[in-house]
Amino acid sequence: MRMVDLILAKRSGREHSKSEIDFLIKGVTDASIPDYQLSAWLMAVCWRGMNADETAWLTDAMSKSGSVLDLSSIGPLVADKHSTGGVGDKTTLVFVPLLAAAGIPMAKLSGRGLGHTGGTIDKLDAIPGFKSDLSIDHFISQVKKIGMAIGGQTQELAPADGKIYAMRDVTGTVESIPLIAASVMSKKIAAGANLIILDVKCGRGAFMETEEKATELARTMVEVGHRLKRPVTAVVTDMEQPLGLAVGHTLEVIEAIETLKGGGPSDLQELCMELGSLALITAGKCKDAASAHKVLRDLMESGKALESFRTLIKAQGGNASVIEDYSLMPTAKQRYDFLVPGTGTKWVKHLDGRKVAEACKLMGAGRTKKGEPINLAVGVVLRDKVGAKVEGGQPIADIYADTKQEYEAARAKLEEAFTYSDTAVTAPPIIKASVS
Ligand code: URA
Repeated sequence: MRMVDLILAKRSGREHSKSEIDFLIKGVTDASIPDYQLSAWLMAVCWRGMNADETAWLTDAMSKSGSVLDLSSIGPLVADKHSTGGVGDKTTLVFVPLLAAAGIPMAKLSGRGLGHTGGTIDKLDAIPGFKSDLSIDHFISQVKKIGMAIGGQTQELAPADGKIYAMRDVTGTVESIPLIAASVMSKKIAAGANLIILDVKCGRGAFMETEEKATELARTMVEVGHRLKRPVTAVVTDMEQPLGLAVGHTLEVIEAIETLKGGGPSDLQELCMELGSLALITAGKCKDAASAHKVLRDLMESGKALESFRTLIKAQGGNASVIEDYSLMPTAKQRYDFLVPGTGTKWVKHLDGRKVAEACKLMGAGRTKKGEPINLAVGVVLRDKVGAKVEGGQPIADIYADTKQEYEAARAKLEEAFTYSDTAVTAPPIIKASVS
């Protein structure tokens, strides 16, 4: 078999066989397929797509490209949650300690930023000392010991996804339903959890911009899970505007801590409650959403959820004093007000999450090349989002930048992100649909 033939086949829209997909993933894993051929094939998939068989074979081959964890020694039930990527999505930082505090073991594998979206592992890098490159043995023994772990993509688990993911990030080949589905599901299967909740993002800040496409991605992943005997539940959630108010690594860790303390923005709270209650109900720990919400709220209000995050930070070598002292994390040199234009009362009509992400990227918060270092300190904190009543000349966001030039670039981009209305606008719901 020759890689060039697979590229030609996919370029002309032909379906791959299982053995072709196995050949491809073996070649990616042992590096016998060069990056330029992989990127050409990825682009062909973006244009031509893959059917359900090809997507399931790809997922299966990627999940078996390294070790597949057996978590049965932890207990009968181990949970994992995955988001398809968005802007300001710090849900994992809240969800993992919260659910661990509720008695559900959380074995979470997360990624770095991809395209315009942020990654949990990059965010955790803002906590001094925090180590996410855990070995498999360490990952499992930590879940056994403290009920949770957040690990980065290791060479041991789904290494083919690690390589493909990094390549897609810099070749404009992220937005493809079969590639996203195989990437997410291969990691989830290799990581071994048996209670999997998927948060499929939808809107301008996500890879799937329409509810229709996001629902198709959710259905594809549920179908792959079904075929590979790893049932999953997927929720489609809004990512037209950023989730919460903070976008940028340190800023998002701060917002997650505030949320674990029982505060934080209402959409982030609601999403964590919704995903958390799905997990509690699926695990048989609560019988309905009302009782699950009560359990989760009590954990936040009693301080147990925050203590759980402290335990996680300490276990992974991080400085847990960041919980009390945010200045221990990388901090931008300057804060600038970003103002509502004009004068008089208006309402925020639309807020483009992708533009907010691009503004942060212009300040160095995202990568433009594989493996590039990023600035963890910079970002944007919104004061208001869609539906808010605002006044011209008043601040609607804070820009955290290291230089005046970066600030100017971010400000110009942020100006494109907001549109206003002279009449009242209703805030959109965060939860759009669920697929199981
Ligand atoms: N998250 C992943 O893990 N993979 C993708 O391809 C997109 C989002």
